[in-house]
Amino acid sequence: QQLKPSKAGALTFETVAPNTRDAVTVPAGYETAVVIRWGDPVVAGAPAFDLHQQTAARQSRQFGFNNDFVGVLPLPGRHDRALLVVNHEYTNEELMFPGFTSLDALTVEQLEVAIAAHGLSVVEIERAGRSGRWTPVKSRHLHYNRRLTALASTFRLTGPAAGSAWLRTAADPRGTTVVGTLNNCSGGVTPWGTVLSGEENFNQYFVGADQSPEALKPKLTRYGITTTARYPSGSRKWDRAQERFDLGKHPNEAHRFGWIVEVDPFDPESAPRKHTALGRLKHEGANVIVARDGHVVAYMGDDERFEYLYKFVSDKKFLPGHSHLARKHNLTLLESGTLYVAKVTGDSPAGEIDGTGTLPADGRFDGKGQWIKLVSGSRSYVPGMTAADVLTFTRLAGDAVGATKMDRPEDVQPSLRTGKIYAAMTNNTNRGVGTNAPADEANPRNANKHGHIFEVTEDHGDHTGTTFTWTLPIVCGDPAAADTYFGGYDKSAVSPISCPDNVAFDSAGNLWISTDGNALGSNDGLFATPIEGKEKGHLKQFLTVPRGAETCGPFITGDDKSVFTAVQHPGEISGATVDKPASFWPDGGYAKPAVIVTWRPDGGPVGS
Ligand code: FEO
Ligand code: CA
Ligand code: CA
Ligand code: CA
Repeated sequence: QQLKPSKAGALTFETVAPNTRDAVTVPAGYETAVVIRWGDPVVAGAPAFDLHQQTAARQSRQFGFNNDFVGVLPLPGRHDRALLVVNHEYTNEELMFPGFTSLDALTVEQLEVAIAAHGLSVVEIERAGRSGRWTPVKSRHLHYNRRLTALASTFRLTGPAAGSAWLRTAADPRGTTVVGTLNNCSGGVTPWGTVLSGEENFNQYFVGADQSPEALKPKLTRYGITTTARYPSGSRKWDRAQERFDLGKHPNEAHRFGWIVEVDPFDPESAPRKHTALGRLKHEGANVIVARDGHVVAYMGDDERFEYLYKFVSDKKFLPGHSHLARKHNLTLLESGTLYVAKVTGDSPAGEIDGTGTLPADGRFDGKGQWIKLVSGSRSYVPGMTAADVLTFTRLAGDAVGATKMDRPEDVQPSLRTGKIYAAMTNNTNRGVGTNAPADEANPRNANKHGHIFEVTEDHGDHTGTTFTWTLPIVCGDPAAADTYFGGYDKSAVSPISCPDNVAFDSAGNLWISTDGNALGSNDGLFATPIEGKEKGHLKQFLTVPRGAETCGPFITGDDKSVFTAVQHPGEISGATVDKPASFWPDGGYAKPAVIVTWRPDGGPVGS
């Protein structure tokens, strides 16, 4: 993840036009191919996919559903081998089971297939020659390949809240070991070669909270768990497969999800860990940068309307190098530290922020911010809450200190080139509606349909500090509309963009943005823009995904030869089923989520 000599540079590719094709569209001069799709064998000896013969045992060894985060970690000393690590966020049962009629009608075996299709996959991949194309290694000995599932994989809790009363259950009276991971959305690759994965909308898997202890109900409600009915509408009713999903019987089980998970893909025997020191939210993901003094800092978003931005600063310092000792030490960095939440203010008079997105008189949506300390090690800084309370109910801690309510903070990632941090605010159609918080300078549009990018510059470039400045380099939407902004660039030359979700960088520091939920009427896609210099804000669409899909990843390899993108939930359109598909991508017949790679066959850097 360290800086490499710049190979990418000017974004000279031919812009892809918005469209509604049932296909992946890439610029002229590029090729794109599926790397791996739902059901493909992952673990050595896994059976080939058969839609009509699917079982939980088979799914547990095959690539899961709804790929979101993508990380590519080169095998040490090899330019031609890498580990692809992918999150499987959730399942579309209607797109998975022939004859689907309702969630209620699923068999227990089918529920277990869905539970096993959640989690992560680790897949060894190899490249064809020196090209940017990568494919899964085919071998009888796949040392690294691994499936982690929500069904049966064991995760270890670390940090100050591990073992606390909140995390103890009948099955785990010590509160240190969890079965499974849920709703793994985005994530990040650490400088020590592990993957972080955010457990996001875990609330949807739990039932029976109407029978949970009264004192717990407000805490469950704050995380979106319905406490007024046994089965929330659209409930997956996983309690039919595993009783632990019934909060009437096991009220603490819900607290064992909503964490940042760290997976060491290079050690297939290692237990993945849930780090309580990074707080419990609807974690979109986490991305780490090493501060000047060696502490590591993880930036994180809580993806829901009016939620907060966070950062974690480790107690210990990063040890560079690839020695066994350094790695062993670095694997402990996220187990202890200090957790902060962001409070931001604008620098323009409040009267100039009218909720329409019109720029204030100083020409910028910008201002200052503070990182407010919530907890450090086992010491809480929030009155009335213990450290375990703050870490387990971090949203309540953010409420208590008056953190700033943002427009759905999704992926948050520092640029390793400039140290500036970029956060995707995907949208917030409730902003300023009814009694909800009105627009402010950092979230400047009421009923925000298209989202914006929030850029943070830590004061003195110190990632461990507590003050920063911020600005909005991009306010998304139709560039022809008055309420959009593209870094001051000529708006007639930029692509329309809506609902930014994931961000990534190439080695030149260009910002790549993928979208989810394009409210402009065409398919989601992947975009790239310079964020410094005279081309700043010259945003161009690089690819589009098929009907009904969101665009995830993205991940640009260190040599800039490949862009990996996750095509999540193709064909997820109301009324569509596997028998009556709305998308036939990628193989025809019915749709499958898949990870794709896009490259230049002439070997040039992506983006050029
Ligand atoms: Fe799973 Fe916030 O997207
Ligand atoms: Ca301003
Ligand atoms: Ca997302
Ligand atoms: Ca990212």
